This record gives sequence, C-alpha cells and structure tokens, in this order.
Amino acid sequence: MSGAPLPVPAPALVDVSGLRIGIRQGSREPLRVVDRADFQIGRGEIVGLVGESGSGKSMVCRSLIGTLPRRGAFIMSGRIEFAGHDLASIDERAWRDIRGKKIGYITQSALAGLNPVMTIEAQLREAIDQDLSANAESSAARAKGLLDVVRIRRPEVVLRQFPHQLSGGMRQRVIIASAIAPRPQLLVADEPTTGLDVTVQAEIMKLLRTIQADMGLSILLVSHDLALIDDVCEKVVVMHAGACIETAGVEQLAKPKHPYTAALQRSRIELAAPGQELVTIVGRPPAVGSWQAGCRFADRCDMARSDCRQGDHPPLRPIGQGRSSACLHWDRLP
Ligand SMILES: Nc1ncnc2c1ncn2[C@@H]1O[C@H](COP(=O)(O)OP(=O)(O)O)[C@@H](O)[C@H]1O
Ligand SMILES: [Mg+2]
Repeated sequence: MSGAPLPVPAPALVDVSGLRIGIRQGSREPLRVVDRADFQIGRGEIVGLVGESGSGKSMVCRSLIGTLPRRGAFIMSGRIEFAGHDLASIDERAWRDIRGKKIGYITQSALAGLNPVMTIEAQLREAIDQDLSANAESSAARAKGLLDVVRIRRPEVVLRQFPHQLSGGMRQRVIIASAIAPRPQLLVADEPTTGLDVTVQAEIMKLLRTIQADMGLSILLVSHDLALIDDVCEKVVVMHAGACIETAGVEQLAKPKHPYTAALQRSRIELAAPGQELVTIVGRPPAVGSWQAGCRFADRCDMARSDCRQGDHPPLRPIGQGRSSACLHWDRLP
C-alpha cells in the first residue's frame, strides 16, 4: 500500500451510513437506485464523489439537501448524520432551517437558476437574508464582499448587472456566491462545471478550493470525471451502481484498491498516451433494477471469481491507512 495514513478524523460533519434510496413503483417493490452509500465528510474537508453517470451521485446529493424527487423517491433505510440531526428522518419544517442555510447546494442546472430580471446585487441580497446568524454588516456590503470571495473583479460594476450580461463562468461564480452567502457549514456541488469550457472548469474548481480555505466550510464535490476533482479534493468516494465501492485519500487513489476505480483511472483522458486509443471501461454499468447478486462490477471485472457473484453486494470495509474498499479481492491489486 502507498501513501501516508490519513489523519485520524475528528467527529465528521456528515456521516452517511447504509443509505438506501428507492423509487416507488406502485404495488411493486421499490426500485433501488442507491443501495449502500457509506461515507463521511470531515469539517473543512473537500470530498469528491465520482462514478459513471447513473451511479446514484445526484440521488445522494439530493438526500443531503432534502430534495429527492417528490414523486416517488424516498429514503428506504440508513442514516445521514449532520450536525446533530439525522437528515434521513427529519420533516420538511426542520429542512427549512437546513436546506440552503446550513447546507448550500449548486448543480449544473443552477446556471438556469439565476433570475433574468433581477440584478446580481438583488439576487445576492436575497441569499444573504437566508443567513440565520443575523449580522450587523449590511447586506449591500456583504454582497460586494461575496463577489470578492468568488474572485470577481470590479464587483461594484457586476452588482448592477443582470445575468445575461455575464459569461457562463462569471454566472457560475455568482451562483457559488449566493450558495455560500448564508454561511453554510457544507456546500454540495453536483457537477458544478458541466457545460462550461475546460479552462473555466479548472478555474471554478480552483475557486472552490480557495473558498473552502477562506470560509472553512466542507464541500462535497461531485463529478463523473476523476481528473477534474483530483486537484481539489482531499478524499474521494467512488460510486458504482448505487454503491460506494472505494474511499481513499486523493493521493492513495493513484493505487486503487477496487477494480472499478482502477478502470476509472485507466480511462482518464490525460493518461492516454499520444497516438494511443482512449481507454474506456469495458461494458455498461448494470441498469438500475437489474443488479445481479454479489458485486455489481463482476460482469465487467477481469479479476472476478465465483465468490464475487454470490450474496449481497460486498460492503465497504476498512483496509487500513484510513481507506476502504468493497472488493473481496482488493489485496490482489498492485
Ligand atoms: N425521478 C426519477 N425517477 C426514476 N428514476 C430516477 C429518477 N431520477 C434518477 N433516476 C435513476 O436513478 C439512478 C441514479 O441517478 P442519479 O443519481 O441521477 O445518477 P448520477 O447523478 O450518478 O448520474 C439512475 O439510474 C436514474 O435513471
Ligand atoms: Mg448526477
């Protein structure tokens, strides 16, 4: 094994355990879309959540913000501990003091979320008013301060502008500013740079890191692209077919201890040598509702043995040095 052991964590800010999310389908058994999410987010930590599209990342995010699709999706079992609450079981009233206030949220579709007929200042002041820790500083001064935090130059000009006058990258900075305006303890960023061009993506990622350092908040940063979050996160949680299958420090992940993570690493575009074909992960992830017994990666895994196809999906287990893997044969990886 490689890398220094992760420091012993203080009590985590977020502790998700055994989380299972289902979609109701009339009289039939609910469809499980998340089945075994287990991970922690420490205070001040940036944790990456990666996995192919459809692996359940957004469902996990939505359970952390209390916005699972109203029609159908529900938490079947498990706990989501956050600052003394179990978010898996609180009611809508309790959510109102948490969602957008103690836990901020940005998504790829947030770009559409800015109000086209409100100035940036008006939108930021609305977000600032969500701050529960009422503060003497005027919301006008705080609006300007927020644009400084998200590194927008000439904030006094931008405050008077409307969203359509800003570039995509600038708009995403404004969205981040309004998400952090109520001083949340946790920011959930679900693919926050999808649709932005590559240089802007890298800038926004860097910005999230700066904000974390400035404000000391924790961030859950979701991406289907391991390379994108590699520079930003301290710890990475890998999801496959509704389950968390590996967690490790970002440096440790260079030596994956789950064959799926290894496949993700191999498929990273930047690792493809010039002239060499881009490596992709063989096969498709198993469709929700048709998960086989045992490990859901077994059909795509060249290390799979007969024990991999039996019983429940293998749970994440600690494998030392602060990391964990759901692979029964993790010790056969180099
Ligand atoms: N409203 C919904 N109704 C039924 N199934 C859904 C709904 N939203 C998502 N799903 C299914 O849940 C699974 C997980 O989706 P999602 O969390 O969005 O994955 P990811 O964010 O990793 O791409 C997918 O198979 C998706 O098709
Ligand atoms: Mg998603």
